[in-house]
Amino acid sequence: MNPVPREAMREIAAVNIVGPISVTEAFLPLLRKAPAPRLLFVSSSAGSITHASDPTSKYHAASANEYRTSKAALNMLMVQYWVKLGKEGFKVFGADPGLIATNFGWGKPEVLRERGGMEPEVGGERIATVVRGDRDEDVGKVCGVYGVSPW
Ligand SMILES: NC(=O)c1ccc[n+]([C@@H]2O[C@H](COP(=O)([O-])OP(=O)(O)OC[C@H]3O[C@@H](n4cnc5c(N)ncnc54)[C@H](OP(=O)(O)O)[C@@H]3O)[C@@H](O)[C@H]2O)c1
Repeated sequence: MNPVPREAMREIAAVNIVGPISVTEAFLPLLRKAPAPRLLFVSSSAGSITHASDPTSKYHAASANEYRTSKAALNMLMVQYWVKLGKEGFKVFGADPGLIATNFGWGKPEVLRERGGMEPEVGGERIATVVRGDRDEDVGKVCGVYGVSPW
């Protein structure tokens, strides 16, 4: 765990919570002109409180505290936008790309690859299914690789 969790929390919240709010608000005027607007927040099953509190879940681990907290908060943000903008015809989703060998975490894709991470284009395609509308029945939820990620 990070030796200075308060500072780590500030930094991660700025990127993972304040960042998505900023981008969303900046694009809303343009999106409102679209015939079928959709918003997609890239989340993670690591942000699932159900998984975190389940001793049988692979996500049950006291690690990445700040990151996981930020993704749980992002899920709430997504739902709040869905409740608000759904009335205007927006479709709003969370999407979890699954474990992907990117610079995520260590800046070393090989570390994630060794842990079973898929190549970036696999994660991209998983997100693209939500963009294309293949997961529209899961609107207002976090679309995971294995189905809907629990809250
Ligand atoms: N990889 C996984 O296994 C995995 C699993 C679940 C969810 N996700 C989610 O997928 C999303 C993409 O992550 P990734 O795996 O592609 O990780 P990544 O390779 O580390 O990419 C992160 C991206 O965020 C940008 N970024 C980081 N801090 C920033 C800041 N302060 N301001 C502006 N941009 C910033 C980086 O920009 P630079 O390139 O300029 O640094 C980079 O483009 C994240 O939301 C992550 O939580 C990833």
